[in-house]
Amino acid sequence: MLFMWFFLFLYLTTTSTAALDSLAVSQSIQDGNNETLVSAGGITELGFFSPENSARRYLGIWFRNVSPLTIVWVANRNTPLENNSGVFKLNEKGILQLLNATNSSIWSTSSNVSSKAGNNPIARLMDTGNLVVRNARETNEEDVLWQSFDHPCDAYLPGMKIGWNLETGLESFISSSVSDTDPAVGEYTIEVSLIGYPQVMNFKEGVLVTRAGSWNGLSLVGNPGATLGTSPNLVISEKEVYYEYELLDQSAFFVYILTPSGTGKSLYWTTETRTAHVISTGKQDQCEDYAFCGNNSICSYDGNYASCECLRGYVPKSPEQWNKSVWGNGCVPKNKSTCENSHTDGFIKYTYMKLPDTSSSSFNTTMNLNECYNSCLGNCSCTAYANLDVRGGGSGCLLWLDNLVDMRSFSQWGQDFYVRVPASELDHAGQGNIKKMIVGITVGVTIFGLLISCVCIFIIKNPGAARRIFNRHYRNIVPMKEEIDLPTFDMSVLVNATENFSTRNKLGEGGFGPVYKGTLLDGKEIAVKRLSNKSEQGLDEFKNEVALISKLQHRNLVKLFGCCIEGEENMLIYEYMSNKSLDYFVFDETKRKLLDWHKRFNIINGIARGLLYLHQDSRLRIIHRDLKTSNILLDEHLDPKISDFGLARSFLGDQVEANTNRVAGTYGYIPPEYAARGHFSVKSDVFSYGVIVLEIISGKRNSEFLDPWHDNNLLGYKLLRKPKVPGFYTEVDVTSQANSSSAILKPNSHNQLSITMLDAR
Ligand SMILES: *[C@@H]1O[C@H](CO)[C@@H](O)[C@H](O)[C@H]1NC(C)=O
Ligand SMILES: *[C@@H]1O[C@H](CO)[C@@H](O)[C@H](O)[C@H]1NC(C)=O
Ligand SMILES: *[C@@H]1O[C@H](CO)[C@@H](O)[C@H](O)[C@H]1NC(C)=O
Ligand SMILES: *[C@@H]1O[C@H](CO)[C@@H](O)[C@H](O)[C@H]1NC(C)=O
Ligand SMILES: *[C@@H]1O[C@H](CO)[C@@H](O)[C@H](O)[C@H]1NC(C)=O
Ligand SMILES: *[C@@H]1O[C@H](CO)[C@@H](O)[C@H](O)[C@H]1NC(C)=O
Ligand SMILES: *[C@@H]1O[C@H](CO)[C@@H](O)[C@H](O)[C@H]1NC(C)=O
Ligand SMILES: *[C@@H]1O[C@H](CO)[C@@H](O)[C@H](O)[C@H]1NC(C)=O
Ligand SMILES: *[C@@H]1O[C@H](CO)[C@@H](O)[C@H](O)[C@H]1NC(C)=O
Ligand SMILES: *[C@@H]1O[C@H](CO)[C@@H](O)[C@H](O)[C@H]1NC(C)=O
Repeated sequence: MLFMWFFLFLYLTTTSTAALDSLAVSQSIQDGNNETLVSAGGITELGFFSPENSARRYLGIWFRNVSPLTIVWVANRNTPLENNSGVFKLNEKGILQLLNATNSSIWSTSSNVSSKAGNNPIARLMDTGNLVVRNARETNEEDVLWQSFDHPCDAYLPGMKIGWNLETGLESFISSSVSDTDPAVGEYTIEVSLIGYPQVMNFKEGVLVTRAGSWNGLSLVGNPGATLGTSPNLVISEKEVYYEYELLDQSAFFVYILTPSGTGKSLYWTTETRTAHVISTGKQDQCEDYAFCGNNSICSYDGNYASCECLRGYVPKSPEQWNKSVWGNGCVPKNKSTCENSHTDGFIKYTYMKLPDTSSSSFNTTMNLNECYNSCLGNCSCTAYANLDVRGGGSGCLLWLDNLVDMRSFSQWGQDFYVRVPASELDHAGQGNIKKMIVGITVGVTIFGLLISCVCIFIIKNPGAARRIFNRHYRNIVPMKEEIDLPTFDMSVLVNATENFSTRNKLGEGGFGPVYKGTLLDGKEIAVKRLSNKSEQGLDEFKNEVALISKLQHRNLVKLFGCCIEGEENMLIYEYMSNKSLDYFVFDETKRKLLDWHKRFNIINGIARGLLYLHQDSRLRIIHRDLKTSNILLDEHLDPKISDFGLARSFLGDQVEANTNRVAGTYGYIPPEYAARGHFSVKSDVFSYGVIVLEIISGKRNSEFLDPWHDNNLLGYKLLRKPKVPGFYTEVDVTSQANSSSAILKPNSHNQLSITMLDAR
């Protein structure tokens, strides 16, 4: 009976050919006979395969019965077989070999097994995807002759260790493939660096490109939030230093792939769904680029763009470039250090930080924070310190001994970090600062008062001359006041209209403040944009927006009713758009159905008309610079109106290009030359417009869309994809979005994109 069950079990868990999970010395796996190994639980499989669009044969390991087929390990990455004559064998020394048609070994595990010589060895494929060679009678699980987990390719699996065996000096690391059709070793690697306090880093051809960073007991400092569904750990011992992770849900299958373009992609499958969920798609923002801000400078990302700020006590090394948002040169100490002869230095605390590169650090696991402070203070080359481990209130000590590189601030997580500054800087932060401010204000008010008195006396005594002088000088200095001819609203009116800015009336959060719906006493509906106090980019943009919009009249631009400037509060009052913004429609399964092709075409046209007006037909040439679906509002007839001119710049005459001080805009919509060099022109808006058009048609966000075969976003996908792949032209599945209409996107030989919309009727 027992045997019968056993065979039934075997029968159920294997395919038509009764596959084994292990390979003994006399056995072989032959490609020509379609032979494979299948792990005991039926989860993974080892055999020969060809990548898409390739006839070459590779020996690899993959998950069974999931889609897309995901190869997690390849033996002969760099030495493919040209046809299916390959044979995979294990010799009596415990060495695995891959032989070609003439029985030459084209790949083997040249492992140094002489010390623990093979004694009836066997190679077994585990459910984890690990291929393990050990002696058949060896009972110690740890005692392996060779295992594929020590030699990863581009896939990082749960239970795999990447890092160093300090006894043998062997390193295991993840390395990307050349392309999706060629698994040979590519440009990118993920490695554990042993310089200073160990860190996980990504390299491109040996050059550091991003730094996930050191371990703080809970996570790597660079991606504190990225532990979704997994429990990672970085182990530092006398014998080895490695990074690994386990799956919290052991029944799921999970793999992290380092793609050919150097981004990361995680795929997981549950036992119910056998199609992949993709949970992360690589780089979040520019602050992740290694040393984006140069030395001694903190990168921050506000959801739209990255910017840099020197640490306290440091100033930009190249101020002119810094002003143009060229940050690479970083910051240098403001004052030459006097640490050697005065002992007055102190520390400034930064919170919510990604700790800097620890390759110039030293560490001690037993010190507490106070000992750490003393240790740093007493050594003039120490520039900063922090806790090593954040668990349980913090323990251990990390000291930095050189420039501080690759820091960023987070909004919700990150660590405390203490930077050494001279005593003069400590004063700035403390009471001295407040005293100076009070003195400043007093002096200012006094002088201002004196001036006003003089002017008043002058005007009273000499009204005619005063008017002439005012017209000649004052108007030239502040023309804006003169030209803005907008109704101003009382604060109290707006408070009433929006029910004291209640969250119930909040329509959304714009680039520099929340927007509320309001109803005036006469029943007219308005939208009130409230400039947030905490926004740094506030006042200038606000005035800019008022000045510009008040001059513009077009049916595809949002109408400005007025403004309110009272004390700290600055607000803009717009016409209310009952259908909110375009993104509410195009990215929503159900609302999208309201937009048939006719409506979508009307929207695409309307945006173009509005843009044409801004670029060519208005008195000033205006570049919007932050065109995106959430900035396109829809009125009750679903007619589009462009909003949010806060970032717009006006140009006189023919000036059509400029360089910005800072890059503003939204990732996914800004063109490469603007993101990289801050160079913008009307073409930047046209690029964003193109993205919007693709999004309107596809119903997918450019930034979130992932081409399932290649690592492209929506743009790359549409334009680069070869038509060979089935369903190319309608791949973004527009069919299901507007009943049975469809769209055909087709790049022509002039690199233009033609869009054909087919209505069901
Ligand atoms: C191996 O599989 C291929 C494709 O499924 C098939 O054409 C071929 O006949 C099989 N060969 C053997 C020896 O089973
Ligand atoms: C594979 O190619 C070699 C030479 O390139 C040839 O000798 C051999 O017969 C081929 N095997 C098969 C199965 O086609
Ligand atoms: C097998 O590999 C050897 C060594 O790489 C090579 O010289 C030989 O041409 C290969 N044979 C075939 C049929 O590809
Ligand atoms: C390769 O080895 C197999 C098995 O040992 C043998 O049958 C075959 O003749 C060999 N082929 C060549 C070309 O040496
Ligand atoms: C095996 O390891 C020993 C000691 O590390 C070394 O001397 C020897 O050269 C190695 N042999 C091979 C074949 O790599
Ligand atoms: C940088 O810009 C600020 C304000 O825009 C200006 O006051 C300062 O002089 C500029 N510095 C340099 C070096 O250009
Ligand atoms: C940044 O710091 C590193 C390490 O101290 C130094 O080698 C490099 O020259 C610095 N870069 C700049 C631009 O100052
Ligand atoms: C250091 O900086 C402070 C404040 O900027 C300045 O008053 C002082 O003169 C500087 N000291 C030296 C030695 O440059
Ligand atoms: C760590 O610091 C403690 C206390 O200062 C000291 O006793 C110990 O030797 C240090 N450990 C190392 C490895 O330097
Ligand atoms: C500062 O600390 C580092 C690392 O512990 C050490 O190499 C260096 O000699 C120390 N410098 C002084 C002046 O104590």
